[in-house]
Amino acid sequence: MLSMGSAASGLAVTFIVWFWFSPRHTDVGYEPLQPIAYSHKLHAGQLGLDCRYCHRLVEEGPHATVPDADTCMGCHKQVKTDSRLLPLLRANYGDGKGDNPPIPWVKVHMLPDYAYFSHAVHVRANVGCASCHGRVDQMEVVRQVEPLSMGWCLDCHRNAAPHIRPAGVKVTQMDWQPTDTSIATAEMRLNANELNPPTQCSACHR
Ligand code: HEC
Ligand code: HEC
Ligand code: HEC
Ligand code: HEC
Ligand code: HEC
Repeated sequence: MLSMGSAASGLAVTFIVWFWFSPRHTDVGYEPLQPIAYSHKLHAGQLGLDCRYCHRLVEEGPHATVPDADTCMGCHKQVKTDSRLLPLLRANYGDGKGDNPPIPWVKVHMLPDYAYFSHAVHVRANVGCASCHGRVDQMEVVRQVEPLSMGWCLDCHRNAAPHIRPAGVKVTQMDWQPTDTSIATAEMRLNANELNPPTQCSACHR
C-alpha cells in the first residue's frame, strides 16, 4: 500500500530533480576578478608547471588548497621583480614572522556545506582535473565550466568510465581523451566494484 508519506516524498524528489537538474541554477561562466593577475595559461600552460606544485593537497585531502606567497616567490624573487602586477605578492612574502595575511584570492568553485566532496578520492580513482575544471591550462583567468550541481555529480557517477584514466596517465595531463580501450577497462573495474561512485543520498549528504 502506498502511504501519503511516500507519495509526498516522491513529489519532493520530482521537484528536486526538476529544479536542481535545470541549468539555470548554476554558476557556469563565473570568472571573478582576482587580486593579482595570475595566469594559468602562462604558468601551467606555457611554463608547464604541474598543478600539484601549487595545489599541494589535492591527492591527500578534501581540498586542493591555493598556494601561499612563498610558493610564488620561489621564482619571483628572481623573475619579474619589477612587475607592477606583483606588489601584493611581495607584501605577503617572507619577513620571517609567518603572520602575513594570505593573498585574498577569490574562490571560484564552491559547493554548499551540506554537500560532501573530496578531491582525494577522485584523484586516486584517476579522474582528471580537466573532467571537472576544463582546460585550466588555457585560461588567463580561472572560470567555472561545469555546473557543480547534484545532477552533474550523478551524471558522472552513473557513467564514470569515460572519465577514469588508465594507470600511467596523469590526472594533470590536460589534453587526455578517452579511448575505446580505456573505457572498456574502466567499465570492467566498475563492474568488479573496484571503483564505486555512489548514488545513495547519504554518500554526499552526511
Ligand atoms: C570530480 C570533480 C573534480 C576533480 C577531478 C577535480 N576537482 Fe577541483 N574542485 C571540484 C569541486 C566540486 C570543487 C569545489 C569544492 C568545494 O567547494 O568544497 C573544487 C575546487 C577546487 C579548488 C579550490 C580549492 C578547494 O579545494 O576548494 C582547486 C584549487 C581545485 N579544485 C583544483 C583541482 C586540481 C588541481 C585538480 C586535479 C589534480 C582537481 N581540482 C580535480 C571538483 C573537482
Ligand atoms: C616556476 C617559476 C614560477 C612560479 C612558481 C610562479 N611564477 Fe609567475 N612568472 C614566472 C615567469 C617565468 C613569468 C613570465 C616572465 C616574463 O614574462 O618574462 C611569470 C609571470 C608572472 C606574472 C606577470 C608579470 C608581468 O608583469 O607580466 C604574474 C602576475 C605572476 N607571474 C604571478 C605569479 C603568482 C601569483 C605566482 C604564485 C601563485 C607565480 N607567479 C608563481 C615564473 C613563475
Ligand atoms: C604557480 C601556481 C599554480 C599552478 C602551477 C596551478 N595553479 Fe591553479 N591556482 C593558483 C592560484 C594562485 C589560484 C587562485 C587564483 C586564481 O583563481 O587564479 C588558483 C586557482 C585554481 C582553481 C580555482 C580555485 C577556486 O577558487 O575554485 C582551479 C580549479 C585551479 N587553480 C586548477 C589548476 C590546475 C588544473 C592546474 C594545472 C593545470 C593549476 N591550477 C596549476 C596557482 C596555481
Ligand atoms: C567526472 C566524474 C565525477 C564527477 C563529476 C564527480 N564524481 Fe564523485 N566519484 C567519481 C568516481 C569515479 C568515484 C569512485 C571512487 C572510488 O570508488 O574509488 C567517485 C566517488 C565519490 C564519493 C565517494 C567517496 C568515498 O569516500 O567513498 C563521493 C562522496 C563523491 N564521489 C562525491 C561527488 C560529488 C559531491 C560530486 C559533485 C560535486 C562528484 N562526486 C562529482 C567520479 C566523479
Ligand atoms: C554524488 C553526490 C550526491 C548524491 C548521491 C546526492 N546528492 Fe543531493 N546534492 C549534491 C550536491 C553537490 C548538491 C548541491 C547542488 C548545488 O549547489 O547546485 C545537492 C543538493 C541537494 C538538495 C538541495 C538542497 C537545498 O538547499 O535545496 C537536496 C534537497 C538534495 N541534494 C537531496 C538529495 C537526495 C534526496 C538524494 C538521494 C536521492 C541526494 N541528494 C543524493 C550531491 C549529491
